[in-house]
Amino acid sequence: MKFTFLSHSTFILKVHEKNILVDPFLSENPFFCKKQFSWKKYIVEPIDYILVTHAHYDHVCDVELFHKIYPNSLVISNYEISNFFEKKGIKTYGVNYGSFISFPFGKLKYVWALHSSSFVNGIYGGNPGGFLLHTDEGNIYVSGDTSLMYDMKIIPTFGKLKYSILPIGGRFTMDVEEAIIASDFLHCEKIIGVHYNTFDSIQIDEKNAIKSFYQKGKELIILNIGHSVHI
Ligand code: NI
Ligand code: MN
Repeated sequence: MKFTFLSHSTFILKVHEKNILVDPFLSENPFFCKKQFSWKKYIVEPIDYILVTHAHYDHVCDVELFHKIYPNSLVISNYEISNFFEKKGIKTYGVNYGSFISFPFGKLKYVWALHSSSFVNGIYGGNPGGFLLHTDEGNIYVSGDTSLMYDMKIIPTFGKLKYSILPIGGRFTMDVEEAIIASDFLHCEKIIGVHYNTFDSIQIDEKNAIKSFYQKGKELIILNIGHSVHI
């Protein structure tokens, strides 16, 4: 399985030759806008699935754009977000907090997140969530935007996690210290950090963050934009 970081909470997971794009936020992402360079060179293979954790703009911004570029892609999100995009002629697969569902890349389960979820114009975006992905290459938890929550303890009861992808920027989500507690709840030693340094309000010191995890016997993986890691 390959993880490619595209900044903020946007990344691509490649599992069994399927490319899964999560929470696309690129065209209006300050990181790319301010530096005046394009994200386009980082997405080189067709996207098969677009996973959306919740309706906030920094997670749904480019769903339509990518569906236009890759019309065969399937958008998977909660029922309300799926309906929103279905009305725009996008192929969707609506889910809710429930069972694992089988896809060609593995089994996927929409799980709860402690956050909010509304579209930019105030349209209801259902309940916020994350995704638990079980594959024969390992189990991955994508928490989405969330605070620390005790319910995370149930996640590893479905199967040992190989990696968890957690927000670490604070203010709107967990910060580094809370993500370390989350990794204890999750019984997970390898964390990939997301949702930091995109905006002024979520700045962190990356080296200190890695050190804080290390001191607790955990590994925090922080990637440069466009960089990949085999997980
Ligand atoms: Ni959010
Ligand atoms: Mn967010």
